[in-house]
Amino acid sequence: MTKTHDGATRTTHHRLLNWVDEMAGLCEPDRIYWCDGSQTEYDRLCEEMVESGTFVRLNAQKRPNSFLARSHPSDVARVEERTFICSRRKDEAGPTNNHMDPVKMKKILTEAFRGSMHGRTLYVIPFSMGPIGSHIAHIGVQITDSPYVVANQRIMTRMGQKVLDTLGEDGEFIPCLHSVGAPLEDGEPDVPWPCAPRIEDKYIAHFPETREIWSYGSGYGGNALLGKKCLALRIASVMARDEGWLAEHMLILGVESPEGKKQYVTAAFPSACGKTNFAMLIPPAGFEGWKVTTVGDDIAWIKPNKDDGRFYAINPEAGFFGVAPGTNPESNPNAIDTLYANCIFTNCALTDDGDIWWEGLTQEPPEHLIDWKGNDWTPGSGIPAAHPNARFTAPASQCPCIDPEWENPKGVPVSAFLFGGRVSKHFPLAFQSYNWEHGVYMAATMGSEATAAAIGQAGMRRDPMAMLPFCGYNMGDYWRHWLLIGRQMVATPPRIFRVNWFRKDEHGHFMWPGYGENMRVLKWVIDRCNHVGAAIESPLGWVPDYDAFRWDGLDFPKDVYAAINNIDTEVARHETNDQEELFTSFGDHLPREMEHERALQLARLIHSPRVWDLADAAKLG
Ligand code: OXD
Ligand code: MN
Repeated sequence: MTKTHDGATRTTHHRLLNWVDEMAGLCEPDRIYWCDGSQTEYDRLCEEMVESGTFVRLNAQKRPNSFLARSHPSDVARVEERTFICSRRKDEAGPTNNHMDPVKMKKILTEAFRGSMHGRTLYVIPFSMGPIGSHIAHIGVQITDSPYVVANQRIMTRMGQKVLDTLGEDGEFIPCLHSVGAPLEDGEPDVPWPCAPRIEDKYIAHFPETREIWSYGSGYGGNALLGKKCLALRIASVMARDEGWLAEHMLILGVESPEGKKQYVTAAFPSACGKTNFAMLIPPAGFEGWKVTTVGDDIAWIKPNKDDGRFYAINPEAGFFGVAPGTNPESNPNAIDTLYANCIFTNCALTDDGDIWWEGLTQEPPEHLIDWKGNDWTPGSGIPAAHPNARFTAPASQCPCIDPEWENPKGVPVSAFLFGGRVSKHFPLAFQSYNWEHGVYMAATMGSEATAAAIGQAGMRRDPMAMLPFCGYNMGDYWRHWLLIGRQMVATPPRIFRVNWFRKDEHGHFMWPGYGENMRVLKWVIDRCNHVGAAIESPLGWVPDYDAFRWDGLDFPKDVYAAINNIDTEVARHETNDQEELFTSFGDHLPREMEHERALQLARLIHSPRVWDLADAAKLG
């Protein structure tokens, strides 16, 4: 049986057709439309959104085929307090997730979704996370009543008829149900950005056992583009646990030496730590002939390859949903070049000549703008013109440094895992773990400072593996999965490193130049993977000596380098003691290795001098 509603797509997938019928019966849309993923369809939807006021078309000379959307002022970011893991047992979700019983949640949401699409179109979006047909990829189908979501999903995923073709008659898909949750009365005109205005009416619900996502009441980003955080991280992390792979909040980049040796590294950082910038790094002076290329900037799906005993990673996404403020030709020229056309900008400011602007894009702000709320703005207004979480949605294929293998269905082999945070004091620039278990412990205890103010104190916001808001099950079990997978699934697991670009001196100035200069750290990481880089044993891990870095093109004083890598062992002991609270919150779910690693670290710190000094340690070596 071939059944079509509106739209040109065709499918004979009975389960899919039945699910769409059932959900349409619940949500009562005026119309059902199956998205084919074509350019014509995209153009038509964008034009309709211009007419309805959801989109502003930007100046066709300056920013061809690009649009600005302004969200409802209450709907500007992910809503973690309304994000739920609805596993049957509470301890399956663990202490770091909000939990609700799946039957109870389905009951609440069935009532919320009933009639929620009155006056609107129900769009069916078949999408692939990862290159279509890749054995690492997975398919989802999103139902939504938001054309904004459809347009964004066309940039962020591979979508449309080709996905239905791959699904065939009975392929597996993850059903993703979404409604903006603001039903219209008969004949009532729509608003530019409908959503449930009260936070308590929003629900981002995940059902890990049945692998379903139900999202209600928000039209924004990670709450509504369900392929991204909901599928590719929360549900995928559960699938990865069950099937022996990893779904991680990681960028993927390639490093190519002048001799043409190419290696790949993935890196996890919490938000606001420059992930997109690092993924698109431009090697500095002194690194002529070196190339850094981007495979992904946010999510990595990593599966073991039996043939060569290594992990291979794909970027499940096809676009970047990046934070706009702070992005500029200095901080990230590749991102700026990616945005030349075919983009959607959300909550950015509008210039008088029909282009976009955000804080940090230019040194001097324009004299007049329309701000993200649609009001006149001047530099004297005293409020930001763009929302701090303003975003660009951009096709990854437009990135000048996109890796030639970024769509390889096999993925790319991973040499190293990097974990980073923002730590202004007492924490070295880079160090390598002693072994896999120590690396998992380092990643599990990572954190970032909420503010840079805490002088000499442990106060860190813990974000294990940068997955705190994204792990779809008990984080203690997730650590156990990490411990097992490195020992059991591959012969040559990636080497594990921690990095910190953000150390400050006593005047509050950053000690490390960062950005392109991070290439020096990256080269050391690659050298370590190739067994050629030198390192010195510290209480925390293997730290690079000054001479282990390539310094061509940068005059960086040896004493400052030593100062960035010194370890105040008393502070580090406080911090290590502090980890106990995190660990005990997992009860029986905490793998014993984590406590063992913590005890070993404490022992190393107790027997070290008050300040472990890199220069002294280097002399000893
Ligand atoms: C993102 C996030 O949007 O991590 O990538 O919040
Ligand atoms: Mn992210």
